[in-house]
Amino acid sequence: MRVLRFALPLLAAVFVSAQDKGEKLAPYYPTPETVVERMLKLGGLKAGEKVYDLGSGDGRIVIMAADRFKANAVGVEFDADLVKQSMDRIRALGLEKRSRIIHGDLLKQNYSDADLVTIYLLPTAVEKARPLLEKQLKKGARVVAHDFGIPGWTPVKEEHIEDDGEGRAHTLYLYVR
Ligand SMILES: C[S@@+](CC[C@H](N)C(=O)[O-])C[C@H]1O[C@@H](n2cnc3c(N)ncnc32)[C@H](O)[C@@H]1O
Repeated sequence: MRVLRFALPLLAAVFVSAQDKGEKLAPYYPTPETVVERMLKLGGLKAGEKVYDLGSGDGRIVIMAADRFKANAVGVEFDADLVKQSMDRIRALGLEKRSRIIHGDLLKQNYSDADLVTIYLLPTAVEKARPLLEKQLKKGARVVAHDFGIPGWTPVKEEHIEDDGEGRAHTLYLYVR
């Protein structure tokens, strides 16, 4: 009994903190830089606009959006090493004013001020993010999905990249809310 009195609160605390961390919705598999540029161009990203990358990996989409497109870019990533790697590069390039990475679960953020959202996640993860985007995105916000489209949404444009230079093909989907 005495053991249980101590063990249960401990187990509950571990469970709560595991839930807070969120669920791994996709492995780290970076988008080639050439494709990143195509995604941001397809999304019509303009200077000063707000862009979020859901599951930002090493921050390459955020960094290109802030550096070349002069956008306000935010990444959400729950892997601490990737967050550190991204932030180190953001600092090295002096992009702190226009870019940042949130260390957290992409399903627990607020995207209501997004002009553009980029997503490269597994189909099951895209399905999980969809209700959040439907609830939060403002009218006219754009979403660019890489390889896996958003089920139930009709893209306004699709782009096929036959070869990214490394022999990989890609499909990009543009949606407008
Ligand atoms: C396929 S990679 C894409 C990385 C980057 N967006 C790109 O295109 O290069 C997916 C990323 O999502 C991150 N991720 C998976 N589940 C997540 C979650 N629940 N919250 C935040 N990030 C998550 C992974 O750690 C990984 O870095």
